[in-house]
Amino acid sequence: MSLKGRDVISTCDLSSQDFSRLFEEAEELRVLFEKGPLNVARSRIMATLFFEPSTRTRLSFTYAMAKLGGQVVDFGPKDTTSVVKGETLSDTIRIINGYDADLIVLRHGLEGASRLASEITRVPVVNAGDGSREHPTQALTDLYTIWKALGRIDGITVGILGDLKYGRTPTSLSYSLSMFKGVKIFFIAPDLLQIRGEVTEKIKGNVDFESTNDLRSVLGRLDVLYVTRIQKERFPDMEEYLKVKGTYRIDGQLLRESGASPLILHPLPRVDEISMDVDELPNAKYFEQAANGVIVRAALIAEIMGLEI
Ligand code: NCD
Repeated sequence: MSLKGRDVISTCDLSSQDFSRLFEEAEELRVLFEKGPLNVARSRIMATLFFEPSTRTRLSFTYAMAKLGGQVVDFGPKDTTSVVKGETLSDTIRIINGYDADLIVLRHGLEGASRLASEITRVPVVNAGDGSREHPTQALTDLYTIWKALGRIDGITVGILGDLKYGRTPTSLSYSLSMFKGVKIFFIAPDLLQIRGEVTEKIKGNVDFESTNDLRSVLGRLDVLYVTRIQKERFPDMEEYLKVKGTYRIDGQLLRESGASPLILHPLPRVDEISMDVDELPNAKYFEQAANGVIVRAALIAEIMGLEI
């Protein structure tokens, strides 16, 4: 039932029951944290290793552990470590293993890095993003935000917009949505950035989905519009990037003209795909979504460490 001692490498390591239970636990933690930090993780240590830039994921994991009363040891920027001397990821993980952390949170540019780490260490590993592949705790944050706003995940229609090819959050979001009943996904992207075949292979039969490049034609049917940034840094060829740069931009006028008011989510950071005039709309939930990252990650840490709340 609980995730005690488990790795979370793929979103598929979680079930819909795990999601629902973690949502309830996050709710409890929200209330408890309002009164101040807890002391339940005293004497526990979480190691965070971010080999790629991060604001929300690293900070929300760190805040979550601080609010549970535990300690965080951060690897720091990789250019201050022995990575610059040529140390391999496997050796780095072996060292952390020897220091007896209770949990390792790893972000790395290479797909499969977290899986590799989990094979080396007996410490549970949580994938905080591996290249273009997966970002399971972002999916947890995304689904929690939808559940909190709409009261359900079953039966909703979600448009996932932007860079579905190089982005890891669309992949993890698709896997998580496919675990619930009666969900419909519209993959909205230029052909060059459409969702990868490995993702549709995995979700087909469990969720209804369609691909389109025409946002306006589906906007009115969406309960949720999940906007993503074009992942400039992951394009092997800048010519390709220039072809798709700025393809979509959500602004107040587009939403008014469509008459639609779906929840608007974004994993952030945004570049230019959501205009700032959208921020004040009641259905724009991306800052709330970012804030929710703390309590859902706290719930996950608590389960994996087997903490008594
Ligand atoms: C995302 C990521 O790192 O994949 N950011 C995040 O964790 N909130 C999205 C992105 O970088 O575009």
